[in-house]
Amino acid sequence: MAEVYAGAVDKGLEGVVACTTGISSIVDATLCYRGYRIEDLAENSTFEEVIYLLWNDRLPKAEELSQLRQQLNQFQELPGPLVQLLKEMPTQGVHPMAWLRTAVSMLALWDGESQSTEAEAQHRVALRLCAQVPALVALFERIRQGQDIVAPRPDQSIAYNFLYCLKGTEPDPELVKVFDTCLILHADHELNCSAFSARVTASSLSDIYSAVVSAIGALKGPLHGGANEQVMLMLKDIGSLEAAKTWVKEALEQKKKIMGFGHRVYKNGDPRAKILRGMSEALTKKSGEPHWYQMSAAIDDTVQAEKGLLPNVDFYSATVYYSMGIPIDLYTPIFASSRVSGWLAHIFEQYSKNRIYRPRGEWVGREGLAWKPLDQRT
Ligand code: ACO
Repeated sequence: MAEVYAGAVDKGLEGVVACTTGISSIVDATLCYRGYRIEDLAENSTFEEVIYLLWNDRLPKAEELSQLRQQLNQFQELPGPLVQLLKEMPTQGVHPMAWLRTAVSMLALWDGESQSTEAEAQHRVALRLCAQVPALVALFERIRQGQDIVAPRPDQSIAYNFLYCLKGTEPDPELVKVFDTCLILHADHELNCSAFSARVTASSLSDIYSAVVSAIGALKGPLHGGANEQVMLMLKDIGSLEAAKTWVKEALEQKKKIMGFGHRVYKNGDPRAKILRGMSEALTKKSGEPHWYQMSAAIDDTVQAEKGLLPNVDFYSATVYYSMGIPIDLYTPIFASSRVSGWLAHIFEQYSKNRIYRPRGEWVGREGLAWKPLDQRT
């Protein structure tokens, strides 16, 4: 466990243990959800199973999983009047994360249970959010492209329906499996910036939607979830395998950050990046563009050699999504579509043993100033 020290001002709370949690754990380079290793979950589970695990502290039995799937399917259709309003909202020149943040906030207005503190009602709110955040992301793209809106299939998974509603065609089963694995890999990650934001908002006993909207705002930033989009833009900017090494060296010389590298907690590698690396290699080959993986691997080698930094979850996920033909600015909203399941687990954990977060700030400003009327100020 990281060292705990007092007086950690201006250090991004590095090393501070802000709460106890039983949702996910990071020890060295091992990530577990509720005690299960991410490698096992990625290989053997489905995203729906992981949602159940995160919310219930155990894997579901067959009947429980089937019930969860049915409930998620039942809730994925968005309220008609909301869709009409969203069609009127600007999409051109608008970042999809900004749109999603607004749309999720609007979604609360159609949810009659959004303010409830009753456990079953809050569970239904959570189900609606898990089903509807990915549906909103697909909807954004259809509206932005001026395309007809595609209704989700009631008998399919979240991964299938996201790809189906995004593209309007039957998705390749292999890609559905890959996408489902991405959703599993991004579902939770201990006390990351967005989960912490959700918990801080929930700790004032504000409602679930408010906490999720806070989390979306935090995830959007390029130091957190926004990095996956920046990785693909960087690869495009570099342009070729030959240019990769020099580009990275020059960027590091100029003290620029290489997106998709480094981590506050992992110092010996992010286990999710290892899984995504294999997926990136396979998918870029399948899509006939292996150079994206080759460039990524060259950047990975160079950043490690020059700076000793390892890739995080955002680095190889960029080329995975690119190979699936997903627009670059949707990568972070996809992250949100998965992470909402973890945020909800954190919000419920926070409610279950709540005390409001209220740290202190160490005063470094001026003191004892004498107030002067307007005409005497210089
Ligand atoms: N490229 C170049 N140098 C880096 C990078 C990077 N990606 N990451 C860290 N460093 C350097 C810093 O410049 C600093 O060097 P210095 O000691 O010479 O000043 C040192 O490594 C420590 O870095 P910090 O920024 O202090 O590390 P911190 O723990 O505060 O930040 C973070 C972690 C935000 C992930 C950082 O590594 C970063 O900005 N990475 C790039 C953005 C990114 O990929 N974010 C996604 C993270 S995963 C996630 O949130 C889903």
